[in-house]
Amino acid sequence: MSYRIVVDPKKVVKPISRHIYGHFTEHLGRCIYGGIYEEGSPLSDERGFRKDVLEAVKRIKVPNLRWPGGNFVSNYHWEDGIGPKDQRPVRFDLAWQQEETNRFGTDEFIEYCREIGAEPYICINMGTGTLDEALHWLEYCNGKGNTYYAQLRRKYGHPEPYNVKFWGIGNEMWGEWQVGHMTADEYARAAKEYTKWMKVFDPTIKAIAVGCDDPVWNLRVLQEAGDVIDFISYHFYTGSDDYYETVSTVYLLKERLIGVKKLIDMVDIARKRGVKIALDEWNVWYRVSDNKLEEPYDLKDGIFACGVLVLLQKMSDIVPLANLAQLVNALGAIHTEKDGLILTPVYKAFELIVNHSGERLVKTHVESETYSIEGVMFINKMPFSVENAPFLDAAASISEDGKKLFIAVVNYRKEDALKVPIRVEGLGQKKATVYTLTGPDVNARNTMENPNVVDITSETITVDTEFEHTFKPFSCSVIEVELE
Ligand code: AHR
Repeated sequence: MSYRIVVDPKKVVKPISRHIYGHFTEHLGRCIYGGIYEEGSPLSDERGFRKDVLEAVKRIKVPNLRWPGGNFVSNYHWEDGIGPKDQRPVRFDLAWQQEETNRFGTDEFIEYCREIGAEPYICINMGTGTLDEALHWLEYCNGKGNTYYAQLRRKYGHPEPYNVKFWGIGNEMWGEWQVGHMTADEYARAAKEYTKWMKVFDPTIKAIAVGCDDPVWNLRVLQEAGDVIDFISYHFYTGSDDYYETVSTVYLLKERLIGVKKLIDMVDIARKRGVKIALDEWNVWYRVSDNKLEEPYDLKDGIFACGVLVLLQKMSDIVPLANLAQLVNALGAIHTEKDGLILTPVYKAFELIVNHSGERLVKTHVESETYSIEGVMFINKMPFSVENAPFLDAAASISEDGKKLFIAVVNYRKEDALKVPIRVEGLGQKKATVYTLTGPDVNARNTMENPNVVDITSETITVDTEFEHTFKPFSCSVIEVELE
């Protein structure tokens, strides 16, 4: 068996965009109501924000938060969600077939983002919405002058513009499940039009156009709107009961992202303007299909999430923006009950990687045995195959000040631990801390009764320019070293 990791902390390859660690909250099931927001709960503050959720969310330092959907947004009228709460209309949401009270709207969302230190990322309604409505929403959020919607924001108690930077130009408009879904030509033209005029109002915004698995769709969007958009989005849902079928799709995701990047490069204007990819929905999703989507995540799913975060660290030059779908309850990294919460293994993946990684990627070489696998994607029933998937993956980064080195290592092997020779150029003997996320078996879950079955442990080790470390089966570890 041949495994080896070589890191050169002096060779900075590229910065790691902090926005790869983003999240998504949709008006879906109990994500907003009963998730981040629960009026009247003894666990909530006076604004209705669940304090236990807030505390957990703050711990994973969410850099940006996408809202309000997802499918929900394509029949959401943002003006329903502003002004005195008791006067807001209750509407029926076609996407998830539930009643929307509108008690959580734009102002509450911005307040939540400010509280957790996240950049708001608002997705607009291109289903039942209009260009006018999108422009008014932008004006309400970012307007500085005396115009109607900027004044309305002030009237509702928010004198300063919100300066929302990220704007999603619709959601999954290619899918028949999307209210008002479109053909590639229809969407490409509309995306150009919406983005163009939104940028006339506020040239500082970043526009994320809808992309998908269909290269024809992506090419149309890039050709038509490549001169105005900043990102093309890609969504990835995966998973099955089988461990390797699930975790191997980290590499499938990598292939797919490279595929989208190739399309960007094929379109002159998009390539020249440096259009990027936004992986603005990703997660494991195969167990549930009701309208609450409360997927019970296990360690297998957490290892997949670690794999994606490590992958994104390495690819953040082409995918600088990503959003786990979703933050709470609906496909949630956090699961709430009336009297507490569960931090799932997917949450733990974020807790590990976000808190133990640097801002700059350094040169890393990984040697690993590989495996090949065939499976079926639950979400669209499409067969897939992954060839030569490495059992061992790693990304190393250093802090902005160059004082700390972080070597993130995923051992995907289910059967055994891996004793891996590691070389860190110029390191010398030092103490290091290893943080490891794992659990008793790949299907282990955290519950209210046993909340820490899957958890992060730490130990102090001695490292050197050449050393060996044994990585537990189905684990993700970060070796953290003070360089000075
Ligand atoms: O995240 C759940 C749903 O998955 C989102 O609403 C939609 O965009 C995707 O199909």
